[in-house]
Amino acid sequence: MSGLLTGQVALVTGAGGGIGRGIALRFAEEGAAAVAVHCRTAVEAASEVAARVRELGARSVVLQADLTDEDACRALVREAAEFGGGRLTALVNNAGVQPTQPLDGMTAAEWRAVVDTNLTSVFACTQAAAEAMRAEGGTVTHIASIEASAPAPLHAHYSASKAAVVMHARSAALEYGPYGIRVNTVSPGLIDREGLAEAWPEGVRRWREAAPTGRLGRPEDVGDACVFLASPLASWVTGHDLVVDGGVSARPTW
Ligand SMILES: NC(=O)c1ccc[n+]([C@@H]2O[C@H](COP(=O)([O-])OP(=O)(O)OC[C@H]3O[C@@H](n4cnc5c(N)ncnc54)[C@H](OP(=O)(O)O)[C@@H]3O)[C@@H](O)[C@H]2O)c1
Repeated sequence: MSGLLTGQVALVTGAGGGIGRGIALRFAEEGAAAVAVHCRTAVEAASEVAARVRELGARSVVLQADLTDEDACRALVREAAEFGGGRLTALVNNAGVQPTQPLDGMTAAEWRAVVDTNLTSVFACTQAAAEAMRAEGGTVTHIASIEASAPAPLHAHYSASKAAVVMHARSAALEYGPYGIRVNTVSPGLIDREGLAEAWPEGVRRWREAAPTGRLGRPEDVGDACVFLASPLASWVTGHDLVVDGGVSARPTW
């Protein structure tokens, strides 16, 4: 631990999941005073993350919300700030869904389900956080994806939502900058999780071949990028998309 986030009060959405867990733990390791761990359904996993955060020396609480509900987004941010004693200094918009589906036959409701979860929730949580952060400034980091610029097959709704998340951050950076609020995105490549190699052996093999660094990402790789963006080291970085993909995007595609 090097104390890059000493005293900060953070909210990480989707922190019962693989990447969110990695982000929450890295924030605690870097000296955050409090980390609110959000989940929708995975209360047990989120509670385990909160317990680990406490072991690392930060205060923690589990907050449950379905982020497709705009009012729930606002309530979540309010509860996190209340837990922080009226302060919120860092929000990481990590929650998201990644279903695969062909465009042919996709209904507008199916499209909206992805866009509401991955994009509209980011708009609503950021707006609420910007209000909470107005007094002392803060940071908002959205988890986008390399698919924001290089879509994968059967992921039109997902890729479109992530591209919009990148542009939301750039727009929000313009509007919230005068209040000392920085807004950035982290775009991860393929991040390892339990059972991935068994569930998708061909994808994992192709990734390893494409990655100059020869490995899949780890949740803490994404966590490190989020720590950097939330820290004073990034005090002049806003409206930026930080790609964390082991170099895969640098490869020529033809
Ligand atoms: N895994 C990768 O390789 C990869 C690569 C690039 C980008 N990403 C992005 O990274 C983020 C985290 O992904 P992950 O791989 O860690 O996925 P994950 O383990 O499935 O976690 C996703 C989280 O999002 C939450 N969530 C889903 N729908 C929600 C809703 N309607 N309201 C509130 N929370 C909701 C889930 O909460 P509950 O489980 O509590 O319901 C879960 O904690 C996502 O935005 C994803 O698009 C992932």
